[in-house]
Amino acid sequence: MSTLQAALADLLDGMPPGRAAQAVDRLIATYRGRTAGKTPILRDRSDVAAYAAYRMPATHAAVRAALGEFRARAGEWTPATHLDVGGGTGAATWAVADAWADAEAAHTSTVLDWSQAALDLGRELAAGAEWASVREAQWRRAPLGGASAARLPEADLITVSYVIGELADPDRAAVIAEAARAAKGAVLVVEPGTPDGYARVLAARDQLIAAGYTVLAPCPHNAACPVQAPDWCHFAVRVTRSSLHRQVKGGSLPYEDEKFSYVAAARFPATPAPARVVRHPQIRKGQVLLDLCTVEDGLRRKTVTKRHGDAYRAARDADWGDAWEQPDR
Ligand SMILES: C[S@@+](CC[C@H](N)C(=O)[O-])C[C@H]1O[C@@H](n2cnc3c(N)ncnc32)[C@H](O)[C@@H]1O
Repeated sequence: MSTLQAALADLLDGMPPGRAAQAVDRLIATYRGRTAGKTPILRDRSDVAAYAAYRMPATHAAVRAALGEFRARAGEWTPATHLDVGGGTGAATWAVADAWADAEAAHTSTVLDWSQAALDLGRELAAGAEWASVREAQWRRAPLGGASAARLPEADLITVSYVIGELADPDRAAVIAEAARAAKGAVLVVEPGTPDGYARVLAARDQLIAAGYTVLAPCPHNAACPVQAPDWCHFAVRVTRSSLHRQVKGGSLPYEDEKFSYVAAARFPATPAPARVVRHPQIRKGQVLLDLCTVEDGLRRKTVTKRHGDAYRAARDADWGDAWEQPDR
């Protein structure tokens, strides 16, 4: 069990039975239909504990997956400073520490959010982390967007995970513009893997490209996204369900798939993968059908057969969301 899972399990153990599920129900009802507001949704400890226990494992897993794809294209680049914008209880801060866990020079993380309750619980959870960057993270209260919004401090890597959906349109664009200005190395934006979440990611992608960034993941290029409505570009990551999930959602499955859309873009020179697998590969007898987003042809289906040797073996191992290194074979 990771230290994050252990900290979240302790949090649940500390809540009276039934109370956590009620708090999650309340939170879901508050989120439903609400896009942007003038005050934090996460108002008190019970809201935040519900968020952390119910959503943080999934948002953490999505950010971690996106960072894995980004890092695979970023070469030796390592962030020395990380800013977690709208970081809440710090899911992205944990994910960044894990994604660069082997890096010699440890980075520092700063979490910005307007919910003091989220920052307080985030700091508590972080105390037990195995990484110094999480244990020693700075937790700062700050509003995003709006006239009173502060300029973002500079950082090598800026993550904006599951946040812009809570902002009004002009604030959303302003926060991404600020992230693009303040990041010295890279920006990652992650949103729920819904058509709306994807649309927000696409708008952020346009802004980052206009600001001079190179998209390193998931797209193999900076050109227009070839995905057409009603389809949308998204990926999925498997998350273990806690007893709380089973109480709230029923059912007995031990996991669920968190769907997410993302864009990770860099200011430094680096090359994206030549193609990306954008659906579950279909494995047939002696062949694998891959739906790829490619540089040359946009979306295309590739049939990889046993005759392709190494490429066939790679195709059998490929997952939805993976880079595909051999689009021409
Ligand atoms: C869905 S949570 C995501 C938290 C975290 N980034 C994650 O991935 O789990 C959205 C976060 O954005 C914060 N937020 C929303 N609107 C904000 C605003 N105008 N200023 C600052 N923080 C804001 C909320 O307080 C909350 O912590």
